[in-house]
Amino acid sequence: MSDSEEVKAKLDIVEVIREYVPVKAVGANFQAVCPFHNEKTPSFVISPDKQIWHCFGCGRGGDVLSFVMEKENMSFIEALRMLAAKAGVVLKHENPEKISKRSRLLDIMEIAGKYYAHILKSTTGVKARDYLLARGLKMETIEDWRLGYSPDSWSSLYDFLRARPLIGKKYTDEEIMAAGLIIRKEQAGSGRNYYDRFRDRIMFPIWDVNNNIVAFTARVNPEKEKTEKMGKYINSPQTEVYDKSRVLFALNKAKGAIKKMGYAIVVEGQMDAISCHNHGFDNVVASSGTALTTEQVTLIKRFTNNLILSFDMDNAGQMAADRGIKEALAQKLNLKVITLPYGKDPDECLKNNPADFKQAVMDAQPMLQYYFNKVSADLDLNKLENKMLVRDKMFEMIGLVEDKPEQGYWLKKISEELDFSETDIREEFAKWQANKKPEVNRGFAAEKSEPSIRPLVREELLSELFLSLIIKFPEFISYSLNSLDPEQVYPDENVRFYKTLIIYYNKSASLDYNDFRQYLTENEEGLDNFLDKLILLGEKDYYAHTPEEAKSEIIKVIMELKRYFYQKKIKSLEKEIAAAEKMENSELGGGATMTRLMSELKNSAEELKKLI
Ligand code: CTP
Ligand code: MN
Repeated sequence: MSDSEEVKAKLDIVEVIREYVPVKAVGANFQAVCPFHNEKTPSFVISPDKQIWHCFGCGRGGDVLSFVMEKENMSFIEALRMLAAKAGVVLKHENPEKISKRSRLLDIMEIAGKYYAHILKSTTGVKARDYLLARGLKMETIEDWRLGYSPDSWSSLYDFLRARPLIGKKYTDEEIMAAGLIIRKEQAGSGRNYYDRFRDRIMFPIWDVNNNIVAFTARVNPEKEKTEKMGKYINSPQTEVYDKSRVLFALNKAKGAIKKMGYAIVVEGQMDAISCHNHGFDNVVASSGTALTTEQVTLIKRFTNNLILSFDMDNAGQMAADRGIKEALAQKLNLKVITLPYGKDPDECLKNNPADFKQAVMDAQPMLQYYFNKVSADLDLNKLENKMLVRDKMFEMIGLVEDKPEQGYWLKKISEELDFSETDIREEFAKWQANKKPEVNRGFAAEKSEPSIRPLVREELLSELFLSLIIKFPEFISYSLNSLDPEQVYPDENVRFYKTLIIYYNKSASLDYNDFRQYLTENEEGLDNFLDKLILLGEKDYYAHTPEEAKSEIIKVIMELKRYFYQKKIKSLEKEIAAAEKMENSELGGGATMTRLMSELKNSAEELKKLI
């Protein structure tokens, strides 16, 4: 048995998941409100029997290891280590060679963090330390955030890592470089081939949500701020442990407070976040100088749906806020925006008077109100063209709001503010939306990493039902495979699964869950999880069906899918025929094409007729 199999065998998936969300027994399975997306009715299903889980709302699923990986944002190895400890399993295969590259990089980052923090406390770091204290940070805060200093030298960290026999032996130059801490010289010569990335800078460790240092951001020595060519901040590059768009600075520290307080404040800079925590605003995270990304929004949604943005008051900051706003709206977060009474950023405001920042948080405006003020500032709203301009910009934003009553509220509001009739505004908005629809629906969040979050369209849903039905009731498989072609199944991933199922069935002439799953694991990457999902779907929707009922359901679903297929086909043939007609008129087309198209159309129409 492999380590992961042993761990899985010793743990009860239901008990592990129960530590994260309340679960309820339903029949032979368990259900929960999905911990990965926002929902009211449970669509998260656990099968204790098969030791798997799946959410029918957001499409995620897997085994106990993937659950912990997803929930804790851990790598496979990390999750395995954690669960092994819980299960009392001693990992056999864990020797230094085999520990994943990722955890070796994390170790290097941890050592570097200790090194920089140590230097900050030494005499070499005295100026940097004084600077931080002068900016109002308590010594306690400096230690708590493990701030550091990188000496003004080309190789102090590199030498340190190499001079320590243990580390020197353990980690190679390539690994230190892969961690982003050293850079290879362009012209490697006789001496050292690497130099330190961070030199003479104040070091801010960046953690992932589990308190691993994954990167550093490094602030220029304030004495050199005016002359430094490399920029005020330089950051770790993208590495195997660091993806800037997937990290929110300080989330590891803020997550508890965010849950408790029910909302998070997002600022731009590291110093802003630290300064906020320094003043007791414990629910603050930083986006690190960019607009919020889809991944960052997804990350924060694990802890709250309420966000207050406090971005810098300069133009760049405001633009970052605009993009973050769209992202957050697309993922249905409740958004407010802080307008600082003075100062460029929260840090400056706090330094002057923390109470003013507190007031600004309490006065935060709902995003759409803020946006209205922003786009209408400096415009004379007595002029019709300005009103129309503001209206169009507001439509864009209101179109991103999914909640109908909220949408209605804002339409009413802008009709008042712009002095238009509410009915007219509503009518125009409906028209505007009808034209915009595809983009609005599939906008920001959709194109990204989680295609399964996109609501399934009818034919996709039917295809999924079809597959889950034949898996749950294999006695009808032969009939089903003969009745429905792969091209009549949607979308691509269902087609892939269906084709594989056909191949498998033709080979083994039966459908046994374990054997089929084994086959998928060995031959078709990812489809084993897909099978689990279908099984759970079948159990969820059809656990009470008799074979008779299942059969009539299968027949119905096949009919529906075929009908959809032929309707679509007829439409596209009609288009082709129209185009061919044009060609023929211009004497370029061939009669043969036309004949073929006409006969295909006739066939399709006949097939469709059979189905009605
Ligand atoms: N930033 C960056 N690279 C730069 C400038 C800024 O990555 N060249 C990011 C950093 O994460 C920084 C944030 O953008 O924290 C905000 O930048 P800025 O407002 O310029 O810095 P402050 O946070 O205000 O820093 P300080 O108060 O120390 O001047
Ligand atoms: Mn600042």
